Amino acid sequence: SEDIFKKVISHAKEYGFIFQSSEIYDGLSAVYDYGQNGAELKNNIKQYWWKAMVQMNENIVGIDSAIFMHPTTWKASGHVDAFNDPLIDNKDSKKRYRADVLIEDHCAKIEAKIDKEVAKAAKRFGDAFDKNEFISTNARVLEYQNQINTILARMGKSLENNDLEDVKALIEELEIADPMTGSKNWTEVRQFNLMFGTKLGATADQAMDLYLRPETAQGIFLNYLNVQKTGRMKLPFGIAQIGKAFRNEIVARQFIFRQREFEQMEMQFFVKPGTELEWYEKWKETRIKWHRALGLGDDNYRFHDHEKLAHYANAAADIEFKFPFGFKELEGIHSRTDFDLKAHEQHSGKKIQFFDNETNESYVPYVVETSVGLDRMFLSIFSNSLKEEVLEDGSERVVLSLPPALAPVKAAVLPLVKKDGLPEFAEQILKKLRLDFNVSYEEKDSIGKRYRRMDAVGTPFCITVDHDSLNDNTVTLRYRDTMEQKRVAVEDLAQIIDKEVNM
Ligand code: GAP
Repeated sequence: SEDIFKKVISHAKEYGFIFQSSEIYDGLSAVYDYGQNGAELKNNIKQYWWKAMVQMNENIVGIDSAIFMHPTTWKASGHVDAFNDPLIDNKDSKKRYRADVLIEDHCAKIEAKIDKEVAKAAKRFGDAFDKNEFISTNARVLEYQNQINTILARMGKSLENNDLEDVKALIEELEIADPMTGSKNWTEVRQFNLMFGTKLGATADQAMDLYLRPETAQGIFLNYLNVQKTGRMKLPFGIAQIGKAFRNEIVARQFIFRQREFEQMEMQFFVKPGTELEWYEKWKETRIKWHRALGLGDDNYRFHDHEKLAHYANAAADIEFKFPFGFKELEGIHSRTDFDLKAHEQHSGKKIQFFDNETNESYVPYVVETSVGLDRMFLSIFSNSLKEEVLEDGSERVVLSLPPALAPVKAAVLPLVKKDGLPEFAEQILKKLRLDFNVSYEEKDSIGKRYRRMDAVGTPFCITVDHDSLNDNTVTLRYRDTMEQKRVAVEDLAQIIDKEVNM
């Protein structure tokens, strides 16, 4: 699977999806740029989310708040005091790691052992194999699962109690070694604040210390009253937002999975106190269904219910996705109680409440949050779609079978040859389709090579113009996944494409 992951990274670069930031200066670690195809895919994911969350929900509206916020925000939210990760120094390598990441890695290794057991059993039992049944009854698998749970629970407890010595002891006990050097010489565990600081103002002595927001959620909380009043919203209602967030992650790896600058798609759902756990369950179901509707495989998603809760939550779960490096968090669903709004009330001195007409009382709403990383969504879709196929004639092709609705380019118009009026005919088609879809045009190289290139960027349709096209106004339509080719009338193209790529 490490191999697959390497292929994902190099494919993303080769086809203009993702570049290392500042590459000509040897790059900036854990910061990435989205290229010409990556930007399109990313935009399509945003739209897909926005449509499901805002457009399709009467009682959810979207905002776009600033990255810079008043510094008191982060005192109120708890991020100044609590947004810390335990950091562990290796005295030999002088390198620094996040303790929770090292421990998670260790658990991923145990998980890989479970996968091996499952694969072995699947081979042995053949068609009769029931994966879920096997996992829930096999003693060895259960023992592995137990180990993972124990380790995570212990880490959770130590972090909750801020007991760094415990974290260190756990690392030693598990014999976790420095991933770079293999040495086990850890010296110190410290707390490390993940927020990036910056300054607002011209002169040093008058400048105000700011943080780049580590989550978009606080921009929603600070606008709760504005939106509720101006939108005349009644509980329950939601506010959604897509935007950048920044965290000074210490372990910079796993490509766009853990970045220092990333994007979140968050929604805060404000509800009447006492109803939050019902909504929490509802949003868990709604969100996992949304993910599964992409068609990347139902088994690639699972819930991980948190035992250890963040300072603001009374229930929390992750939706995990099976990335090339194992099951990892893709989205978080948190029941945040009234923690944030109450804290902002206290720090601002303003009343942040909802007046309930039915009961004639005012109260601070409770909040259920759904928070998904846009870049992690991107990685889940991209890595899952990349396939190497051996064709009937023995040749190989690389195809990026992206969900058509998300594909950067929906169709490529290709004149068979660069003469006889075919390019001009193709251009007419291009001009028309361009009004509705992102389409591209290519006339260089053999038609086979052009098909392959389109397969590699995930273009669902190729439209080939040949000499017959000039006479009968038909073209060859090629489907990316099946490679099936059909003769269709030019006037039907838009409708056929639309049917496939509509969200
Ligand atoms: N407002 C809640 C919140 O921020 P979180 O679990 O810290 O919760 C939510 O983050 C989501 O943001 C995660 O599930 C993940 O998809 C994404 N995310 C968090 N840190 C990230 C990072 N360093 N790089 C990329 N995505 C990240």
